[in-house]
Amino acid sequence: MQIILETTADGSHTFFLPEMGEHYHSVNGAIRESKHVYLDAGFKQCGKPEIHVLEMGFGTGLNALLTALEAENQKIKVFYTGLEKFPLSPEMIDQLNYSETNPALFQAIHQAGWGKSEPVNPYFQLEKIQTDFRDFNFPNKYDVVYYDAFAPDKQPEVWSQELFDKIFSAMNPGGIVTTYCAKGSIRRMMQQAGFTVERIPGPPGKREMLRGKVL
Ligand SMILES: C[S@@+](CC[C@H](N)C(=O)[O-])C[C@H]1O[C@@H](n2cnc3c(N)ncnc32)[C@H](O)[C@@H]1O
Repeated sequence: MQIILETTADGSHTFFLPEMGEHYHSVNGAIRESKHVYLDAGFKQCGKPEIHVLEMGFGTGLNALLTALEAENQKIKVFYTGLEKFPLSPEMIDQLNYSETNPALFQAIHQAGWGKSEPVNPYFQLEKIQTDFRDFNFPNKYDVVYYDAFAPDKQPEVWSQELFDKIFSAMNPGGIVTTYCAKGSIRRMMQQAGFTVERIPGPPGKREMLRGKVL
């Protein structure tokens, strides 16, 4: 599948898939979007001394990088599991300009092996799993879930009630799931699964996004 590197409004890169007509991130700012949706609305709201994060759609590793930086900053231990069906090649990863703040950390995240849990630094333990979300059996419990699949109109099969039910069952009390998506049908799926769902302000270019909590 053809994949094209693009620069978004905040200067950070993303990839575009012409066949799907879909970007990996918001064209209004990839880093800005990741910080807003996953770090500020999700991870930073958790408040636990040790946080288990599950990312649905590891992709470029941008969310993992920003989370690892925040873990170091807060001096808290993070266990991060990233699920990805189509890992990007090292050649694609090398094109991305995310590593400016901490090139060694970005490299370490991408050099970590698939299918095993490895310490990237004292604060960040990473497990990258190559799988389809739908085949994952959620063996652990998570405090924070980043739901970062392609949009529901491009990829409806991974925005299903079954998947949100599984995610809810795999959350710790006080858990939080965030997604850039603000669609009513997805909000209702999350509510049906058991989450208490809020529509909150989205990142630049998006009025709203969704956050689900386990009360
Ligand atoms: C919107 S992109 C986000 C990527 C990533 N969070 C990032 O910051 O680069 C969606 C990601 O989900 C992956 N994906 C799509 N369908 C999947 C599936 N059924 N199972 C696992 N991963 C999938 C894609 O390959 C892509 O990397």
